[in-house]
Amino acid sequence: MIIKTLELTDYRNYESLKIDFGPGVNILYGDNAQGKTNILEAIFLAATTKSHRGTNDKDIIRFGAEEGHLRILLYKNDVDTRLDIHIRKSKTKVIAIDQKKIKKATELLGLLNVVFFSPEDLNIIKNGPAERRRFTDMELCQLDDFYLYNLNNYNKIVNQRNTLLKDIYFNPSLKETIEIWDSQLVSYGSKVIERRKAFVDQLNEVIGPVHEKLSGHKESLRIIYEPNIEIEDYEQALSSSTERDIKTKMTNVGPHRDDFVFMVGDIDIRKFGSQGQQRTAALSLKLAEIEIVKRLTGDIPILLLDDVLSELDSGRQKFLLDSIGDVQTIITCTGVEDFVNSRIKIDKLFEISNGALISSQ
Ligand SMILES: Nc1ncnc2c1ncn2[C@@H]1O[C@H](COP(=O)(O)OP(=O)(O)O)[C@@H](O)[C@H]1O
Ligand SMILES: [Mg+2]
Repeated sequence: MIIKTLELTDYRNYESLKIDFGPGVNILYGDNAQGKTNILEAIFLAATTKSHRGTNDKDIIRFGAEEGHLRILLYKNDVDTRLDIHIRKSKTKVIAIDQKKIKKATELLGLLNVVFFSPEDLNIIKNGPAERRRFTDMELCQLDDFYLYNLNNYNKIVNQRNTLLKDIYFNPSLKETIEIWDSQLVSYGSKVIERRKAFVDQLNEVIGPVHEKLSGHKESLRIIYEPNIEIEDYEQALSSSTERDIKTKMTNVGPHRDDFVFMVGDIDIRKFGSQGQQRTAALSLKLAEIEIVKRLTGDIPILLLDDVLSELDSGRQKFLLDSIGDVQTIITCTGVEDFVNSRIKIDKLFEISNGALISSQ
């Protein structure tokens, strides 16, 4: 799969942009705050329906404009596919695939697969469990409609249950109604747990060899899923937690509290790893992500590297660039110096300044 063309109209700081990407490595360079990341954001949004920044749709529309457009010409399975996303200020966005409107934004998932890598991702091991859950959810939601459905329902019910807990705190007679939520919570939550478990197994199959190479054959990396509760204990634990939940006015048991442990040998590197170890493992995770998408979709994802090369030392930089292979890659950076010493073959080079493409070669 490759993106042939991206067009933006009134999207972030672009009034109008048309960019023709090459099938290999594409570099977007320019000073800070010129609009490089905005381009990657647009591609990410086309893949996942949301901004990687978590922004509301309306904030993506160019300041002062009423609506924004994003169009992508995609080449996949030997055919061209047109994707149109029309972002509106106070209404939901309209999405069309080959001129045909889709009913729900989630129908878009699976058309375009991307792996997005930003400097913040290098902290995924060091940061709290929420980041690691976000990584897993983002990946699984792109790859598995059923997971997306279960997770959305699960999150909705957690929120509704939390609202009810607050109400019970002030009005204890409502307590009996909680059971209705609990059975649904266990039903959706168990499916989330089950899929996360399988995902970690899949990740371990690919991350081991990647990390071994990346660490110069010095380390072996393994991920352990650490569910907050096992499926078989879930129902019981949730009902035993009711009093505590009412006191704390929130749901204390369930997969919204899960974590993932990263082990190098016998060491939990979340807590005891050096910064270098943590960053290498994060890089391995991202590279494994490409492989997972390949395996699960049979298609090669597009790799988006946002300002990440300057964050890596030369050894890791080289490994990353060398492992790109046949993946269409879009890299943002402030200067092209990063590439001088690498053997990487650059397909196209674009200079971005103040919301415009000022040169391409
Ligand atoms: N809705 C918007 N309308 C116009 N400009 C915007 C909007 N959102 C962000 N920007 C501008 O986009 C620029 C940041 O773009 P970004 O892609 O993050 O830059 P960089 O080249 O550093 O990656 C900033 O100048 C910011 O003011
Ligand atoms: Mg940027």
